[in-house]
Amino acid sequence: MSLLIKGGRVVTAADDYVADVFVEDERISLIGLDLDVAADRVIDATGKYVLPGCVDPHTHLDMPFGGTVTIDDVESGQISAAFGGTTCHVDFVIQPQGATFAQALDEWRSKANGKQVIDMGYHMAITDLENGGTLEELASLPEQGITSYKLFMAYKGALMVDDETLYRAMEVAARSGALVMVHAENGDVVDLLVREALAAGNTEPLYHALTRPPEAEGEATNRAIQLAHLAGAPLYVVHVTCREAVEPIARARAKGWDVWGETCTQYFFNSLDDISKPNFEGAKYVYSPPVRDSSNWDVLWTAVRNDELSAISTDHCAFLWDGQKTLGRDDFSKIPNGGPGLEDRLKMIHEFGVRAGRISLNRMVELLATNPARLFGLYPRKGTVAVGSDADLVVFDPEKEVTISASTHHSKADYSLYEGTKVTGAPEVVLLRGQVLVERDELVASPGVGRFVARARFGEELQPERAAVTP
Ligand code: URP
Ligand code: ZN
Ligand code: ZN
Repeated sequence: MSLLIKGGRVVTAADDYVADVFVEDERISLIGLDLDVAADRVIDATGKYVLPGCVDPHTHLDMPFGGTVTIDDVESGQISAAFGGTTCHVDFVIQPQGATFAQALDEWRSKANGKQVIDMGYHMAITDLENGGTLEELASLPEQGITSYKLFMAYKGALMVDDETLYRAMEVAARSGALVMVHAENGDVVDLLVREALAAGNTEPLYHALTRPPEAEGEATNRAIQLAHLAGAPLYVVHVTCREAVEPIARARAKGWDVWGETCTQYFFNSLDDISKPNFEGAKYVYSPPVRDSSNWDVLWTAVRNDELSAISTDHCAFLWDGQKTLGRDDFSKIPNGGPGLEDRLKMIHEFGVRAGRISLNRMVELLATNPARLFGLYPRKGTVAVGSDADLVVFDPEKEVTISASTHHSKADYSLYEGTKVTGAPEVVLLRGQVLVERDELVASPGVGRFVARARFGEELQPERAAVTP
């Protein structure tokens, strides 16, 4: 099956030019002006952008969390991703306490089996190095294409690890070629502030934000940076929300340390006003780290423009408001943490980043596709438009007007963080390895087309010949 995408404006992290893109056997085989080739199918992309499929490095599908399970499984989450122009993501395997990493991986792969619509990889979230996974097993994960370890410095009593566990994982990463990821909030202090708030009778969703102050994020971010430097491990700080966390990352990067930071779409748009909404509506905006004062929005735009932060993810961790978020109606600490957004990232960042003049089109591609692919061992197979790369492509109509709403999105979440937001610019055709997934607002492919991708070690490239395997 061959495909010719004609006359589109090809935009990568580095380039912006009009060309035809020819696809054969799942890959891009030719790029040039007015290509004289016969194809099984031709897509006219005149006036459209041809972007690499976006890569979301931070999602939680079918994950038990906060006394319930996220509402999007692999199928609904990945369909939602495809509609939003995301063709590859890296999801978190959470090691159950006492389980080996192999057991955890088996469990997660069985949840994905047969349901995959886009390509995916896994990070390993380490919760227990005492009774289940060993350091030796951890060191062997990169051989299986699991080339990033995640540790939670918060969620005391659930996912949180102590500094010894964090540091041991960093030592392993320094020799195994894995990238260490941290959720950076001081979990001990947050836990104390939560207990104090509840004891004072403060049970509203707003107290979720007030008990997780920016200083707790800044402190943990700096601690992780210093420990990673000591261990000689590369570090990626997930979901950075505020000046207090951007500053230590910027300082480390200015010194040339191997530190990267990510923020998420929602932190540019949601604020304390949202989590304060009456009638428990504020619970929709309960995720961690929490919404911040809106003065942080500009801090984050500046940081993504200056490469102090290098990626924008969604941290898609969707729950129903009605039936799941409501578990915490009388106690904010029982509201499951997380929000939906896999489908909205490209449209929102294009509208409020590119169209608003805050970042260039090239930088948008770099933040949403190229840098996530590079950092997580998927590049150059994913994250760019180049000869030899997987034909994961988005034909993006920059004129299409869309109103974001839970009534039209493909996540099972019963609300949207951006309800009613009008944007101009949306994916028109989304391709995975040359196969049409979405075309004119219809899902064309069936679950099962997506694959598990064995990722390259940190700093290494993923060459086309490396086999992708189904879960
Ligand atoms: O609230 C959030 N972010 N839920 C997902 C788990 C995490 O901390 O990333
Ligand atoms: Zn987190
Ligand atoms: Zn997350």
